[in-house]
Amino acid sequence: MSPVLPQVSEALPDLDIIPPGLGLERADIAFKVNGAAVSVNVPPLRRLSQVLRDELRLTGTKVGCDAGDCGACTVLVDGDPVCACLMPAASVAGASVTTVEGLANGRLSALQSSFLAHGAAQCGICTPALLVAATALLEKRPSPTETEVQDALGGILCRCTGYRKIIAAVMNAEQFSNAGAAPHPPAGVRHSESQAIGFRPLRGPLLTSPLSGGEKGLAATLATPSPRPSRGEGKGEGQRQHQSLDLALDRRMPVSGHAVGSSPIRLDGLPKVTGDEKFGGDSFPSDALAVLVVRSPHYHAGFIFGDIDGWVKKHPGISGVFTAADIPGKNCFGVIGPFADQPALAEGFARLRGEAVALVAGEREAILDLDLSDFPIRWTELPHVLDVGEAQAEGAVLIHDNRPTNLLTKGFVERGDPEAALASAAVTVSGAIDTSYVEHAYIEPEAGHAYMDGDTLVVVACTQAPYMDRDDTAKVLGLAVDKVRIVPTATGGGFGSKLDVSLQPLIGLVALRTGRPAALAYTRSESMMSTTKRHPAEMKATIGADADGRVTGMVFEGDFNTGPYASWGPTVANRVPVHASGPYTTPNYRAEGRAIHTHGPISGAFRGFGVPQATIMQETLYDELADKLGMDRLDFRLRNCLRNGSETVTGQHLESGVGIAECLEALRPHWVRAEADADVFNSTHADIKRGVGLASCWYGCGNTSLPNPSTIRVGIAASGDVILHQGAVDIGQGSNTVVTQICADALGLPLENFRLKSADTAISPDAGKTSASRQTFVTGKAAEKAGRALRETILRYANVSENASLQLDGSAILILEGDAARRIDLASLDVDADGFVFRAEETYDPPTLPLDAKGQGKPYAVYGYGAQIAELEVDLKLGTVKLIKITAAHDVGKAINPLLVEGQIEGGIAQGIGMALMEEYIPGRTENLHDYLIPTIGDVPPIETILVEVPDPEGPFGAKGLGEHVLIPTAPAILNAIRHATGVLVTKIPATPTRIRAAIREKEARP
Ligand code: FES
Ligand code: FES
Repeated sequence: MSPVLPQVSEALPDLDIIPPGLGLERADIAFKVNGAAVSVNVPPLRRLSQVLRDELRLTGTKVGCDAGDCGACTVLVDGDPVCACLMPAASVAGASVTTVEGLANGRLSALQSSFLAHGAAQCGICTPALLVAATALLEKRPSPTETEVQDALGGILCRCTGYRKIIAAVMNAEQFSNAGAAPHPPAGVRHSESQAIGFRPLRGPLLTSPLSGGEKGLAATLATPSPRPSRGEGKGEGQRQHQSLDLALDRRMPVSGHAVGSSPIRLDGLPKVTGDEKFGGDSFPSDALAVLVVRSPHYHAGFIFGDIDGWVKKHPGISGVFTAADIPGKNCFGVIGPFADQPALAEGFARLRGEAVALVAGEREAILDLDLSDFPIRWTELPHVLDVGEAQAEGAVLIHDNRPTNLLTKGFVERGDPEAALASAAVTVSGAIDTSYVEHAYIEPEAGHAYMDGDTLVVVACTQAPYMDRDDTAKVLGLAVDKVRIVPTATGGGFGSKLDVSLQPLIGLVALRTGRPAALAYTRSESMMSTTKRHPAEMKATIGADADGRVTGMVFEGDFNTGPYASWGPTVANRVPVHASGPYTTPNYRAEGRAIHTHGPISGAFRGFGVPQATIMQETLYDELADKLGMDRLDFRLRNCLRNGSETVTGQHLESGVGIAECLEALRPHWVRAEADADVFNSTHADIKRGVGLASCWYGCGNTSLPNPSTIRVGIAASGDVILHQGAVDIGQGSNTVVTQICADALGLPLENFRLKSADTAISPDAGKTSASRQTFVTGKAAEKAGRALRETILRYANVSENASLQLDGSAILILEGDAARRIDLASLDVDADGFVFRAEETYDPPTLPLDAKGQGKPYAVYGYGAQIAELEVDLKLGTVKLIKITAAHDVGKAINPLLVEGQIEGGIAQGIGMALMEEYIPGRTENLHDYLIPTIGDVPPIETILVEVPDPEGPFGAKGLGEHVLIPTAPAILNAIRHATGVLVTKIPATPTRIRAAIREKEARP
């Protein structure tokens, strides 16, 4: 093998078309990484991203697609951004490569500080790429314009943030160049607010999340390349060697008692900007077997295996093939027990394109170059149905024998007499709308590894629901629940799809059968093929109102394509009828939601559980109704919106905390201004028309009429640290920070004293799944209760009243009441098995009531509300849409962390934009991020956020959830704006230029 001469190739070969077996000869390749000389011995055509991650352990460079579509692998080569997944290792011989790990140079760069201060990193999987690309921009343009930032970062996708805070962070980076400290509170934190609550800028290392390499936050760390990780204790495993980072960063830590309502830098933020965060694929043990999944290429097919043993013998380095026959437990999982119906590995026939049928495990190099085209399996295609109409037709193939007409389940709500109400209404409107599959498109495909720790299976993987993963993995593998430990890694976006198990039982099976660690990272296409989607919906509805503009009745029905397996189909079917009225008084109502099986992709949970689809139906009809009545569209909604004392369509009496009217009123000046702007614009433009649209939302937080508990444990260690066991998985939304803020104020100690122990089924109590906008409300409430209980325990021990205040002074706690002060030396107290000298553990389960046969009851304890205005321009000749601005008013009860709330709103709006205008997953055609389009940095317009705080008595400090709410109004507001601009409503979503043009043409052709 000869070293490759220093040469940077301009033309990159298409690595996907290199035939297996070619380019395997290794060569020594020398180059610089982050200023240090390195040499690797790899095949010259190996992707630079693989070399950085696998050979040099620089896992800050991420892989989201291996195809040049997501930009997550962006690094600098000789100062220029490139996609490392498209760059052969040989191309960087002699070159200088900069990765995210090289940006800090011993202290955070101004840009990294700015990202933290602006809340520009949520899950953080895209953050390294954005940082390196923006660094290259700032080298040339220290004060870039917004357009320059958008141009420089246009190739990097972010699915969480909505990009606005990223743009602000880059544009303002220069202001952080001196000390890394925020010169002023960023967006979301008003100056007056920060002064009023007593922000205390703190310098130096304070608090790092245990999600990063640093333990107990004593020193922030900078990762450097190091030997391979070894197996060990959960979160600590796979960590690289570290050198201290001289951190000078204003974390904006609030003083005691003022954590709620403040916007400290997210407690788990630091590793997101240093590249130190460990996602599912970032800590594979060096001795792990790599796993490949054999999947069905057909929607519906029978299969039989051939000579698997012979095939294994022919392939050196392959350790084994595992099929359903190897599964020791019950080969069936599902998120809702009574509906569980999905095999971990299909048996005899596959019901889904992309369904897993076998696992191939082997040494990493053997698997990397494995050609599966001769894998011994014979397929027999069977008839399939893809749409719900065909699936329900007489004679249609049944996807499950025990589910006649392919009906999984239906949800139903009825109140009053809707037919009579519609018959006597002054005006009625009817319509039908179809929506498409929407892919979650998180930038991190599913990834993780598993190993045996004695007789316990440990699964280290990205997830939203570790306890549910544990239970299903144990069931499939025939293990006792306490013999499976789930250790969540950082999760690079989830949005609902990572609630379902994916690779957990698969890598668990290999680890169990071989005794070797097993590692698997889904490719982008297998992630898109095999995991869940937003349900396509076929909906129709009629709404009637009296002459005064009061809604009198509504009927709604919707068929939701749930794919071959149940997943969250029952939840969608049940949640939709409860919410299809929107946040409006509807005295006579009937709604039915049906989950129908097909052989399409599995539809599951995706931010809103069917409510975004139903809201499109209802809110577009509301615009038509307002027009027919000759009413202003905002006034019409205000006339009908729920208020304190209203009853919902399920007969739930809402006593207080109803903030939809406040949201709509907050939008009024923007509405008036936007409509006037549109009138002016339209009076001078013929081919491009401006439109303004409005839509509202409501959303019940947590499970629908089902138990939904969270448990939080908090204690004080003899060292004086407050240890918070926070099992609510933070997938970027901020629960690590928000739950801690709530607990801190309930306990009465400063945030800076807290140390987090994040989710781990062997360590943390169950805080439930991260879904349904429940963590701030449900887990937050448990944290509030636990904080108060711990406070009470300490006060009782000190025999003082509840008016006393607490302070920590090293390893002592001071209890102050009036002039009296008591000092307790914590080291002198007995320490329990968890290392606590004082402790509390509390559970909260929202008080709901079951729904009866007519869907009447109290399905949720707390609702959140919101409304959004979309302003846009439509090119009437091309059908293209240019978004001008989104204005969003959301009632969050109490903004526990305003900056994080803003981030959620902006991110939800970006996903709503995608749903409205471009996202349509078509099996077999859009199984990649090239053909499946999600919004880029240029697609999200300025967003103005208005935080409305109508406290809910049930929520912690009055807070309500918001994760789902923020997406729901966006698509209908955009569709209403398109209709306002063009006079046509697009009834098949997304409203692509082709569909908009077709609707305009159809209107023009009308007599
Ligand atoms: S991983 Fe390289 S562009 Fe997606
Ligand atoms: S923060 Fe950008 S993808 Fe999650």
